[in-house]
Amino acid sequence: MALSLAGKHCAIVGATGIIGTSIAKAFASHGAVLTLLSRSIPEAQPSFEKELRKPPTSTANKAPTSHRYIKLDVRQPDNVAATFRGLENKDQAVGPVDILINCAGISQTTLFKRTPDEEIRSVLDTNLLATMLACKHAKVQPNGCIINVSSLMALKGAVGATVYAASKAGVVGFTRALCLEMSARSIRVNALLPGWVDSPMWNNLKPDVKKEYLQATPLKRIASPEEVADAAVFLATNQFANNCVLNLDGGLSAS
Ligand SMILES: NC(=O)c1ccc[n+]([C@@H]2O[C@H](COP(=O)([O-])OP(=O)(O)OC[C@H]3O[C@@H](n4cnc5c(N)ncnc54)[C@H](OP(=O)(O)O)[C@@H]3O)[C@@H](O)[C@H]2O)c1
Repeated sequence: MALSLAGKHCAIVGATGIIGTSIAKAFASHGAVLTLLSRSIPEAQPSFEKELRKPPTSTANKAPTSHRYIKLDVRQPDNVAATFRGLENKDQAVGPVDILINCAGISQTTLFKRTPDEEIRSVLDTNLLATMLACKHAKVQPNGCIINVSSLMALKGAVGATVYAASKAGVVGFTRALCLEMSARSIRVNALLPGWVDSPMWNNLKPDVKKEYLQATPLKRIASPEEVADAAVFLATNQFANNCVLNLDGGLSAS
């Protein structure tokens, strides 16, 4: 297969998660040079170094020549700005990118009335505000693209997921509006809405809840992380994909 991502510099925020790791592997396998970010990226670096395909030696733009690993807590707004813009340490700055993927996220498992205020703030800060700040401070290059990982729950209610759903619906609204503003810079902006994915988020559900979701899903199964990564590759490589709100949920959103 042609490596249409060859030499492209892709920053993945939340790269150590199940979905982020899968996206990292897929993009590296297509020749992208990666900057991987999360809180636990230093611990994960050795295993990424073993598993990721090395980027091509020559690159068309000013992309780094090897994959890079930058520790970032997206709940620290000043750090997000500094990390993307290189305000403090140029070596630890992301620099110009062709593709930005916002994939960091945390879930919620409590009924709204029982959710502590601090947790409400944490979910919104991690899932929504951090996505906005990364989009604001990243130096996405002309003809580049942004992919914001939202969720099926942006569109469909679920018990125990009020704040999570609001944060992910916010990501969709933000993506749509940003798409218009970024057109002046020739940057495409898309949202990816996975349904349930084989991940701890799914595994932590009670068996009867899992059963209900599976019954309600026309395809009667959950997605693999690789299928989500495949959708991200599509959004990054299809040059007409803009303002896509891509449901990847096995049809669950239809039920
Ligand atoms: N799994 C699903 O079924 C599913 C379905 C729909 C949508 N999604 C969305 O897909 C995305 C990835 O989900 P996943 O299943 O891969 O989750 P995961 O395995 O729990 O990974 C979450 C990622 O977010 C990062 N993260 C969390 N808090 C952070 C912080 N304060 N600063 C920096 N990074 C932070 C984590 O890295 P560190 O802990 O190292 O910081 C990790 O890389 C999330 O946005 C999630 O809402 C998931």
